[in-house]
Amino acid sequence: MANMIDEIKKRRTFAIISHPDAGKTTLTEKFLLYGGVINQAGSVKGKATAKHAVSDWMDIEKERGISVTSSVLQFEYGDCCINILDTPGHQDFSEDTYRTLMAADSAVMVIDASKGVEAQTRKLFKVCAMRHIPVFTFINKMDREALDTYELLDQIEKELGIPTCPINWPIGSGKAFRGVFDREHSEIELFFDTQKGTKMGNVQKIALDDPSVTDYVDPEQLEQLEEEIELLDGASAEFDQDEVNAGELSPVFFGSALMNFGVETFLQHFLKMTTTPLPRTSNQGVIDPMKEKDFSAFVFKIQANMNKAHRDRIAFMRICSGEFDAGMDAFHVQGGKKVRLSQPQQMMASERKMIDKAYGGDIIGIFDPGIFSIGDTITTSPDKYMYEGIPTFAPEHFARVRQVNTMKRKQFLKGVNQIAQEGAIQIFQEFNTGMEEIIVGVVGTLQFDVLKYRLENEYNVEIILENLPYEHIRWILNEDIDLAKVRGTSDMKKIKDLKGRPLLLFINSWSVGMTLERNEGLELSEFGTAEQY
Ligand code: G4P
Repeated sequence: MANMIDEIKKRRTFAIISHPDAGKTTLTEKFLLYGGVINQAGSVKGKATAKHAVSDWMDIEKERGISVTSSVLQFEYGDCCINILDTPGHQDFSEDTYRTLMAADSAVMVIDASKGVEAQTRKLFKVCAMRHIPVFTFINKMDREALDTYELLDQIEKELGIPTCPINWPIGSGKAFRGVFDREHSEIELFFDTQKGTKMGNVQKIALDDPSVTDYVDPEQLEQLEEEIELLDGASAEFDQDEVNAGELSPVFFGSALMNFGVETFLQHFLKMTTTPLPRTSNQGVIDPMKEKDFSAFVFKIQANMNKAHRDRIAFMRICSGEFDAGMDAFHVQGGKKVRLSQPQQMMASERKMIDKAYGGDIIGIFDPGIFSIGDTITTSPDKYMYEGIPTFAPEHFARVRQVNTMKRKQFLKGVNQIAQEGAIQIFQEFNTGMEEIIVGVVGTLQFDVLKYRLENEYNVEIILENLPYEHIRWILNEDIDLAKVRGTSDMKKIKDLKGRPLLLFINSWSVGMTLERNEGLELSEFGTAEQY
């Protein structure tokens, strides 16, 4: 037990959230460099190698050269065992991206210093905020012309609604970038070109009051820095670990992932400030990994069709407590059955490998003969508790879907339902018309292609997708509502999900507000509440 708890205490499990191109892959790669997983940055450049190593799971991934699924990287740094959850962001943005955040204990938010807070960051941040997990900000690309530092912090505070606490402060940007000022030690970490960041840079520091500081920093920049620090000390929030833990304050760091500047400093501070595996809520109270001796985990993602011939699936689970041994038996609570957890896999620098042991905080992929659903709990505890479910996230693209050959209705419904059960798509029906019309909702449009491809290849059903103009979906939280009586705008559509829960679709976000105004007491949510237990 002592050994197990020690192992769990070493774990740091986090996701990196950002808008495409902010530098998530580059930053991850530099983390791996410091973790000793690779010797030279560039050797696991995500996009190129991931294509071969991770993504042979589905032909569509090969065809498009992108990874449809998110993966997990594990490596050691110092005394910590780090699990980084990848949140795919380009065309492969999907509901899985959101679900991955449910498995993380904290998040690193990468922001492009020349762009500030962007759309996808905003969406991912919202999910972190819903869970109140700590969020750490890395403002990247300081080697390029950046927005004003105050403007950047202001955007984070106003647009995301979280106060910030700069741990360091940049001196210039672009060609005039000289480094960052470490507020706690009152010294400057000097920026040098570290061979385009292919090696671990030597960190060079100089005290602010060292007379030779002007050899590195222009007098005007120094003067500006002193003014800014003074202002900052008076105006910005003080560092408070409790607020960080509660997701109410984001520590901010500046650097350049590409040039490998500020990355190790960030990593070291981050590992001190972030959390060990967090307790999780179950239907029998909170389960604390530091106290619970039994193994428990929940499924947050299902990866279908790793082996087309067998329709195999891999269920990705987050271990919440205890120790995992390959091939162990555990109880699948939702299924009400004992299961053998076989073929456990873990990601290691974008390669899958078999593992024997894992601990609370780790993520493993388990062979799934088709029994697991997203949100399910697996445990060896005699208490057979169930973890809180995973909410449904708002799709942003909708299409009406029909099978070409009407004789294939049965296969069509089976396929659509199975793919929905894996969580790749959400399906809805029109409010009044029964099962005839099926509306599919997805978070990223790639999932439409995945749906079409899989129905054709696995279920032998050709479909036609007719895009619908809706962009906003809201779950109705009021119980016992009479959907017929909800008075909306002309662009509103009433639908139901498979469980019969009422929802509303809108073309404009403006109409959401109008509908709320017209129906007193109506409560709408962007998240579908999880099936509680
Ligand atoms: P992502 O995973 O968040 O989508 O971003 P990624 O790391 O792939 O970075 C996107 C682009 O930004 C890449 O350039 C990358 O080299 C560049 N980049 C990342 N960090 C920094 C930084 O600190 N400073 C500067 N100047 N650039 C940075 P690319 O040309 O699109 O790709 P590549 O040809 O370099 O692979």
